[in-house]
Amino acid sequence: MSDTPERYAHLARKFDIDDPLFATEFEGVLEHLVARCPVAHSEVGPGYRVFNRYREVRRCAQDWRTFSSADGWMLNPPPGNIAILPEDLDPPYHTEWRRVLNPFFSAAAVQALEAPARAYAGELVARVAPQGHCEFVADFAAQLPGLVLFKHILPVPVDDLPMLFKDIDIYSFGPMQARTPAFERVYVYLQRFLETRAREPSRGGDIVDVILAGVERDGAPCSWDDKVHVVLDVVFAGLATTTHAISGAIYALAADPALRAALQRAPDRMHTAVEETVRLYAPVVAVGRSVRADCEVGGEQLRTGDRVALNYAAASRDPEVCADPARFDLERQEVVHTAFGVGPHRCLGEHLARLEIRVAIEEFIARIPEFEVEPGKQPSYESGQLRTMKELRLRWPT
Ligand code: HEM
Repeated sequence: MSDTPERYAHLARKFDIDDPLFATEFEGVLEHLVARCPVAHSEVGPGYRVFNRYREVRRCAQDWRTFSSADGWMLNPPPGNIAILPEDLDPPYHTEWRRVLNPFFSAAAVQALEAPARAYAGELVARVAPQGHCEFVADFAAQLPGLVLFKHILPVPVDDLPMLFKDIDIYSFGPMQARTPAFERVYVYLQRFLETRAREPSRGGDIVDVILAGVERDGAPCSWDDKVHVVLDVVFAGLATTTHAISGAIYALAADPALRAALQRAPDRMHTAVEETVRLYAPVVAVGRSVRADCEVGGEQLRTGDRVALNYAAASRDPEVCADPARFDLERQEVVHTAFGVGPHRCLGEHLARLEIRVAIEEFIARIPEFEVEPGKQPSYESGQLRTMKELRLRWPT
């Protein structure tokens, strides 16, 4: 690595996950953090320590008793922040929700969605193919995850996807004072959705029936509110995350014709392409935890009540577990990363996300085998605890 750029020097003591540097120099910042700054300190909001290497991130993520999620995943929450469940819970209540939600997102359940997911992806590409160009995020990546989730798992009207997407984007990346009002609109919308479903007859055990049936909390039925927070989590976590990963995959293939040709020659490397995509284009950059017992991690002394951030995006680029980590490498035998989390909060939708990324790549390159980023139009990003590509302008011969 070259000498530490001067403009990264402040990150060790004055880290801010919302630093605009993260949006514009994501790779450089992550490389710097992993190499030079295994534990960064932040004074933003309540203040927190950031773990940037695989070993410490994994340890904290697995030890939920010491590193609790109950105070929320947000490092600098906006006033009146709204919880998402099961993300903002600890076992055993967390485990109860995962027990009833997991079956809808198992590898087998998701496998059954391949044909419709492929059909949606094919239709989206067919729409833009004749025009020779597109803005890939809006025209494709922001649509596929909502189509699959809402039409096949959680039956929210697809027509409302753009509205929900917009408010989730404001919540994730908007001005601080706009975040809670935007998420409140999503919450109110989903509360009404759930109320309507509660008045209707059961649909034979779909995910909404299961959420409405609820689980026990401390031996008593959980509250209505908790059920709304669960629907909120699935919708929030299931849309923009996969949108970013799909955009990342197609960007990587557009920017590197040799990579694209290699994948076209060896479609059996698709699994590795998907893992490399989530590793390098991690939509969940970092999550927060609260320390519940004095301890030492990575040489850092932590006290009960401290907040810590697990930098999943950085840990996925730790050379300890991934050689030449900045490289999108189709030949890796095993892709070790933390992009879907580690431990009890490991992503509920990981199989679904993988399916959507895979069919997106397959259907796109099948119909548009040669494509490139429009000259002078490098993609732009928004970054914080989450990351998203705002715009990806592509063109191809027709
Ligand atoms: C590439 C796409 C995705 C990535 C990279 C991703 C990443 C993550 C990560 C890192 C976590 C763990 C957070 C923590 O440790 O606190 C997580 C949790 C979660 N994800 Fe995903 N996610 C993706 C897509 C999805 C999809 C498609 C869904 C559902 C439709 C989903 C639903 C959830 C839920 C509900 C949780 C909370 C799980 C819990 O707390 O037990 N995610 N995700």
